[in-house]
Amino acid sequence: MLSDLLRRRRPGHALEAAFYTSDEVFAQDLAVIFGRHWIHVGVEADVPEPGDFVAVNLGGESVVIVRGDDQEIRAFHNVCRHRGSRLVMEAQGSVGNLVCPYHQWTYDLEGRLISALHMQPDFDPSCHGLKPVHLRSLAGLLFLCLAPEAAPGFDAMAEVMEPYLSPHNLRNTKIAHQTDLVERGNWKLVMENNRECYHCNASHPELTIPLFEYGFGTYPETAAPEHREMAAQYQLAEAEFTGIWSACGLPSAEVDRLADVTGFRTMRLPITEAGESHTLDTRAASRRLLGNFTQARMGGLSFWTQPNSWHHFMADHAVTFCVLPIGPEETLVRTRWLVHQDAVEGRDYSIENLTQVWQATNDQDRSLVERTAAGVRSSAYEPGPYSQQTEGLVDKFIDWYTNRLREHCPA
Ligand code: FES
Ligand SMILES: [Fe+2]
Repeated sequence: MLSDLLRRRRPGHALEAAFYTSDEVFAQDLAVIFGRHWIHVGVEADVPEPGDFVAVNLGGESVVIVRGDDQEIRAFHNVCRHRGSRLVMEAQGSVGNLVCPYHQWTYDLEGRLISALHMQPDFDPSCHGLKPVHLRSLAGLLFLCLAPEAAPGFDAMAEVMEPYLSPHNLRNTKIAHQTDLVERGNWKLVMENNRECYHCNASHPELTIPLFEYGFGTYPETAAPEHREMAAQYQLAEAEFTGIWSACGLPSAEVDRLADVTGFRTMRLPITEAGESHTLDTRAASRRLLGNFTQARMGGLSFWTQPNSWHHFMADHAVTFCVLPIGPEETLVRTRWLVHQDAVEGRDYSIENLTQVWQATNDQDRSLVERTAAGVRSSAYEPGPYSQQTEGLVDKFIDWYTNRLREHCPA
C-alpha cells in the first residue's frame, strides 16, 4: 500500500489522507524516518552535570541520554542486558550509576556492566554493556541516530552550522522553561505547518510582532501588491541587519540543504522595531546576553532540520523545538527556552516575557494542526496544491520525506 501511495504522490500537492492516518504508514515513518536518520531530541543543557540523564521516546524506542564523569554525553538503549527491563522510567533524573531496578545489574555512565550479583564464574560482564545509540552534539543541540550505521551527512551539516551557531554559545546556557504539547495530528502535519508562514498573518498576532512573514518560504520579491509595503520594510531591515551581522563577523546567508539525507536550512533574519528578540516588545527577554554578544540588536538566527526540528537563536536567548511522533494521529512538540546559565530568573528575565510569543504561537499552531487532522480524515478530503510563492519549503519537506521512504521501502 505504501508503494502505491508513494507512486501516486502528485508533486506540488499535499499528501493523501493515509499518510496522516494509517498505522502502516506510521510504522514505516518510525522505522525509516525516525529509525534511520539524525533526529533532534534535546540540548546539552538537558544534562548539565555528570550523572544527569533524560529518557527520550524515539521511533518506538526508549533511549537514555546521560552525561558521564568525563563530561561526555552518551546515549544508550533503555534496556537492561539481563532480562530487558527498562533501566529508568523517569523522564529525567540524576544517578551515580545506572542500576536496573529488577535484579540490580549496575552499569557505569559509559554503559559498562560493573556489577551483576549471583552470576556464574564464566559470565563475562564485558559482553553485557548497554547498547549504545549514535549521539552527536551540534554546538549544544543533541541529535540521535538509531540505525546501526549512522545516516551520512552529520559532519557536513556541522561544518556549515558551527560558525552560525557558536556565537550563541548554547553550551553555556540553561533551560529556563520547557513545554510539552501533545497535538492530535500526525507529525507531518506539524512539520508542514512549520515550513510555511502563509498562515502567519491570519493566525499569529504575537509572532508577527517581532517577525516578518519573509524568510519562511515567502520571498519579498514575489510579494502581492497589498504586501509590497511590508516587503519593502523587510528589505530595508534586512539591509540594515546584514550590515550589523557582517560588522560582527556573523555568517548570515541562507543555506538550503533540505534535500540532503541529513537535510537542513539556515539563515539570519531581521527582527522588527527594537530588533532584539522574539518578545512582544521586540526587546531582549534576558538582560544577560549569550556568548560574547555586547548588544542585543542582532535579529535572529533560524535553523530548520529534516525531519523534526526548528530553532531560533537571538542575542539573549534561544528557542528550540523538537517534534516526536507518539501515534499515527498524536505528536509531541517539545519546546525549550534557553538563557545564559548565569542569568537569574526575576532579576535578568521573567518566564512570562521570555515565553509568551512562542507559547501563544505553539498553541495557535496546535489548533491549526488539529483542525487539519480532522479535515484529512473526512471522505471529501483530496490533496490540494501548494502555493508556489509561499509553500516551497513544505514541498521540500514532503519531497525529502517521500524520497527517504522510496529509498528504504521496496516498490
Ligand atoms: S532485568 Fe535488569 S537486572 Fe534483571
Ligand atoms: Fe505557525
